[in-house]
Amino acid sequence: MVLDFQGQTAIVTGGANGIGFAAASQLAASGASVFLFDLPAENPAQAAARFGGQGIAVDVCDRASLAAAFARVPAPDIVIVNAGIARQEALLDATDELWRRTLDVNLTGAFLTLQTAARLMKNKGGAIVLTASTNSWDGEAALTAYNASKAGLLGILHTAANELGPYGIRVNAVCPGLIRTRLTESHFERSEVVKPYFQQIAMGRGGTPQEVAAAIVFLASAAASYITGAALVVDGGQMASKFGPWSEDNAIFADGRWRLKT
Ligand SMILES: NC(=O)c1ccc[n+]([C@@H]2O[C@H](COP(=O)([O-])OP(=O)(O)OC[C@H]3O[C@@H](n4cnc5c(N)ncnc54)[C@H](O)[C@@H]3O)[C@@H](O)[C@H]2O)c1
Repeated sequence: MVLDFQGQTAIVTGGANGIGFAAASQLAASGASVFLFDLPAENPAQAAARFGGQGIAVDVCDRASLAAAFARVPAPDIVIVNAGIARQEALLDATDELWRRTLDVNLTGAFLTLQTAARLMKNKGGAIVLTASTNSWDGEAALTAYNASKAGLLGILHTAANELGPYGIRVNAVCPGLIRTRLTESHFERSEVVKPYFQQIAMGRGGTPQEVAAAIVFLASAAASYITGAALVVDGGQMASKFGPWSEDNAIFADGRWRLKT
């Protein structure tokens, strides 16, 4: 199966880093004309230049900022709604500020992006992919606002897939597990954190942005032409089981991952 995006315009929010950057790079490598939308401080133009794309400074929380950015690009065929933040605060200590900011970026920002995009795509069709999370279901501690925002994305996903299907617009989501990006780098650097965490993951390790990007690109492509409203978990098997397969009896943890003893 060859994924070919020649002649298609793709927009990736939060595309200057991590999962978004990996998805944008893969879309560009498969022929798409790619625009990164990201905060000015992330220098999206410079990031996009690394793969021959273009970058535009956007705050997804701001409808006017989004409208101005969409006005500068051709009507998109593909929109990856990916911008997000994650900050930890225990439920009992969580502040209004963190709650509002997280919902603003992760949920309102996704709604504004999707609605602006869909209005431009309704006469031509296309594909929208949301970056949700295993935390759309999982009650991981100290992430109340994040978990609520990612659960909310599934509500947007299902409703948008339903309402936009008649316009030929497919809407899907990826739900990554623990992926190594700057958002999670501090976890990956601490063996005492990832060793027990990865014990619960069938693949015995965390994921890479490229592995999530591959799922995003598939869902955006013609290969997924009969898939809409789907939430594709990309988590190495984390959500498939309550208790993972790895133990000190059968495996060793080295170089950031579990491997069976030989
Ligand atoms: N890394 C993981 O383990 C993981 C797991 C599940 C879901 N996710 C989700 O994947 C997405 C990408 O995260 P990542 O891990 O690549 O982190 P990242 O920090 O590398 O990338 C997030 C990007 O979003 C941008 N962004 C934040 N606020 C924005 C705003 N208001 N307007 C425009 N852009 C904004 C950031 O500048 C950044 O470039 C997020 O939605 C995140 O919640 C990540």
